[in-house]
Amino acid sequence: MNESQTPPKNIVLIGFMGSGKSTVGRELHQRLGYPLVDMDHVIEQRAGKSIAAIFADEGEDKFREMETALLGELVDPAAPRRIISTGGGVVGREENRNLLRHLGYVVWLQAPLAVILERTSKNRDRPLLHTDDPAARIEALLAVRKPLYAETAHLKVDTSGLDCGELATGILESARYFFTGHL
Ligand code: S3P
Repeated sequence: MNESQTPPKNIVLIGFMGSGKSTVGRELHQRLGYPLVDMDHVIEQRAGKSIAAIFADEGEDKFREMETALLGELVDPAAPRRIISTGGGVVGREENRNLLRHLGYVVWLQAPLAVILERTSKNRDRPLLHTDDPAARIEALLAVRKPLYAETAHLKVDTSGLDCGELATGILESARYFFTGHL
């Protein structure tokens, strides 16, 4: 993006699997009426199969390429404002981290390990957690990703004890403040 252009005013949700990105994204979408882009859903629709099937058939690298390509498409200053919900591993590539910050206001939803474990154990959608010891896998991934979420986000939100309505209210307040300062 040309530095002289006004940055797009999207709200972008990042955070680990099970941190509530999709739920909070839907709440923000309902409140603001902005279109919701759930990146995992778009990738699944395009591929015509689930994320787990993409990982199994084509490998994680292919999925990451699809993720980066989609982010590149979303960085369109002419597009309407949107709520963008990302997959938990989107911060892995430096290129993606740069794209995310060019997309708008980046909000990191944080949840404790126990909550992540409980939420992610409810289904088998997440191929990275198809392991004998999901807790250990989550801890290892979190150790790598936490600094990446931190360097990418404009706002870090501790989701403990808050429902999605309360989270949406807080995010909207700070997004308004952020965008006012970036007019
Ligand atoms: C992933 C998170 C998933 C999905 C894929 C990989 C990750 O999205 O993109 O399974 O690397 O953390 P959610 O964070 O929405 O579960």
